[in-house]
Amino acid sequence: MFDPKEFVDDAIKKLREEIKGKALIACSGGVDSTVAAVLAYKAIGEKLYALHVNTGLLRKNESEQVRNLFQRLGIHLNYIDASERFFEKLKGIKDPEEKRKIIGELFIRIFEEFAEEKDIEYLIQGTIAPDWIESGDQLRDTIKTHHNVGGLPKDIKLKVVEPLRDLYKDEVRKVARFLDIPVSEKQPFPGPGLAVRVIGEVTKEKIEIVREACAIVEEEIEKASKDGKMPLPWQYFAVLLPVRTVGVHGDKRAYGYTIAVRAIDSVDAMTGSFSRIPHDVLDKIATRISNEIGDKVTRVVYDITNKPPATIEWE
Ligand code: XMP
Repeated sequence: MFDPKEFVDDAIKKLREEIKGKALIACSGGVDSTVAAVLAYKAIGEKLYALHVNTGLLRKNESEQVRNLFQRLGIHLNYIDASERFFEKLKGIKDPEEKRKIIGELFIRIFEEFAEEKDIEYLIQGTIAPDWIESGDQLRDTIKTHHNVGGLPKDIKLKVVEPLRDLYKDEVRKVARFLDIPVSEKQPFPGPGLAVRVIGEVTKEKIEIVREACAIVEEEIEKASKDGKMPLPWQYFAVLLPVRTVGVHGDKRAYGYTIAVRAIDSVDAMTGSFSRIPHDVLDKIATRISNEIGDKVTRVVYDITNKPPATIEWE
């Protein structure tokens, strides 16, 4: 039986032993990196530098929410807006693995620049077990390169510390509840952000569209779950497909993209089944997408693939 108190005490002790100087932690506001940040802050106090990088690939209002969260936690959060750098590097890139590697590498370069400025030696990462299992090792095939594992460049100058490496998500959530961290129940969001929810080349326009669509999916599913119409899925979001189809917007012809709605039930992200969303909830999502972004999106489809054979994210 996993005991969060025992884990916390042990993790703090190990972090104190391992970290001999200043350490940096990148904070996305997700449960993994927030738990890692709180543990590290308890272990080394002001020697911890928390940093939030705005990649331009985050969800609606997400960056602001992260800054508010850290204010509540009483941990000073440094902030870098690097969105232009991310869009520039992703220009023309279509291959999902290449996208993931570029994003992972740029994150690390930004961390290294910040670390050099502040004389920081260590990098704490919120990597959990499924991240490295699915990123492949000698025994396993690479399913996809999670940006905080296989995306690390070989010549990284910082010493990487991963206090949550052996935990599964349900265990991280238990630790978060034990530590009273308000994002303990938040749905996972991938490190490469909305870039892996725009299939093919990433552009600012496509990110804007998928950001709006994700917000609609999240709002409607959370509302339906609150109203007792359905259990809250493990993850629920929108994906923009580069497929264009013909539609009618107002009384005019429209030729827009396709949005796929993805909602999946799982306990540890290793396997999952598509959520049986009531049809009226799907209807509401499609109607709102048509009303709010119908000039850019002419079709909404629902993904009914389990994991396996599909993965949760489309890229
Ligand atoms: P897949 O898509 O591989 O995802 O079935 C399993 C879980 O991991 C999340 N995910 C990521 N998390 N960095 C992360 O920190 C990543 O690069 C990444 N890619 C996928 C995904 O959202 C799901 O919860």
